[in-house]
Amino acid sequence: MAYNDKADVVDPSSFYPSPHTEGPRLSFDGSQISSLAPDEMPAAFDGELDATGPSTATNESEGDPIFIGSIGTEENEDVELTDEEEEIPPHVALPLPLEHIYVKDPRQPLLLSDFHVIKTLGTGTFGRVLLVCLHADSPHHRPDTVQHFAMKILRKTEVVKLKQVKHVNAERNILARIQHPFIVDLYATFQDHLNVYMLLSYVPGGELFSHLRRAGRFTPDVTRFYLGGIVLALRYLHSYNIIYRDLKPENLLLDHRGYLRITDFGFAKVVDDRTWTLCGTPEYLAPEIIEQKGHSKAVDWWACGILTYEMLVGYPPFFDENPFGIYQKIVKGKVYWPQELDIASKEFIQAFLNPDRSKRLGNLARGADDVLRHTWFEGVDWVALENGKIPAPLIPQVTSGSDTRNFTSLPFPNPADLPGLFPSASLPPELQTDPDGWQFLDF
Ligand SMILES: Nc1ncnc2c1ncn2[C@@H]1O[C@H](COP(=O)(O)OP(=O)(O)O)[C@@H](O)[C@H]1O
Ligand SMILES: [Mg+2]
Repeated sequence: MAYNDKADVVDPSSFYPSPHTEGPRLSFDGSQISSLAPDEMPAAFDGELDATGPSTATNESEGDPIFIGSIGTEENEDVELTDEEEEIPPHVALPLPLEHIYVKDPRQPLLLSDFHVIKTLGTGTFGRVLLVCLHADSPHHRPDTVQHFAMKILRKTEVVKLKQVKHVNAERNILARIQHPFIVDLYATFQDHLNVYMLLSYVPGGELFSHLRRAGRFTPDVTRFYLGGIVLALRYLHSYNIIYRDLKPENLLLDHRGYLRITDFGFAKVVDDRTWTLCGTPEYLAPEIIEQKGHSKAVDWWACGILTYEMLVGYPPFFDENPFGIYQKIVKGKVYWPQELDIASKEFIQAFLNPDRSKRLGNLARGADDVLRHTWFEGVDWVALENGKIPAPLIPQVTSGSDTRNFTSLPFPNPADLPGLFPSASLPPELQTDPDGWQFLDF
């Protein structure tokens, strides 16, 4: 079996942390993979390699393949990896109608200019997220309600260049139609001639990523609390055939109670059967994504195994200085199991990290319910957890709606880049061209 301890498995902590993993890890999309020369591709990319078999890929120490970076180049025009992506198919029933989010009322529309920017909360591969506040003189300002929000902003030209138009529209349309206590809320969307904007609930406790790196690792009980919330959120998403595809501590935020909220639906997709786009974050990719066999909900359960390992051990099980090496290790399937990891947790992780999807925990006959009933979760009161009745292991320090102490300090955005939020800094309307606006009509 591929997951037994093997003498040649190296403890990833021997070269971890490294500059590659000290900061948040970036997500990527399949169009970026084409920057590899053919002989740099792991054999898995040709579909020749069985997930449990030996890797015949090139020696990772040879050459220096770059997976992320050379995107939007000519060669990428031929890549059809994203072409199968569709927005929500019309027959799909999601919990809420689109009108659930802010309805544009022509008599008193909510405008970008109703908000002012307080600071930058985060940046990812595609987006920049700002803390914003409703102006005191906005007609929508009410003293008794929440005034601070997170505004996710994506530059239209970048989205088009990186071939993310369908993903961004799906992010908006899926988030608009779901509601769950462990998933960030979307309230409204906007666009100006440069950007699209998503108004989200501000989740003030910071990324699980920073809390985990600070703690080093979590105990099984702490891990159980966080993973339990994720499993409930995945059960909800999967019940509507939504796969999430970017589970990792960088996309998990702590709310004021200390409960997790999943953010970043940039790769979420409604999938009736299978999908082929190679996207996600290298350390968290399931082997079937790398091998491009077609993937589905099972990839989120694989990622649960990676997340559980990373929380308990402090670093992910498949790690290398460059993504190429990570893919090789995932496909090879050998995991280093530290001595201190208890046997029950190891078996639980192994149940997720099964390269055979038909045997992977979460993807069996009873789906997510098998995960809830697993012995590792024995004694968890799922109803109490979903209702927020279980005390969280870490209550983040937050004293006001504008408290950003749990986020790293990032530069304030350039007002000229955000014309809707800074109308006075923007070009006169006749000079504001918007050639890509037609691709974002839902915003
Ligand atoms: N609702 C939110 N509240 C607070 N911070 C957020 C929120 N949404 C995102 N962030 C921060 O911004 C970062 C980038 O946002 P994300 O949606 O993950 O963008 P990307 O798709 O570029 O990765 C997150 O990792 C997180 O630190
Ligand atoms: Mg992200």
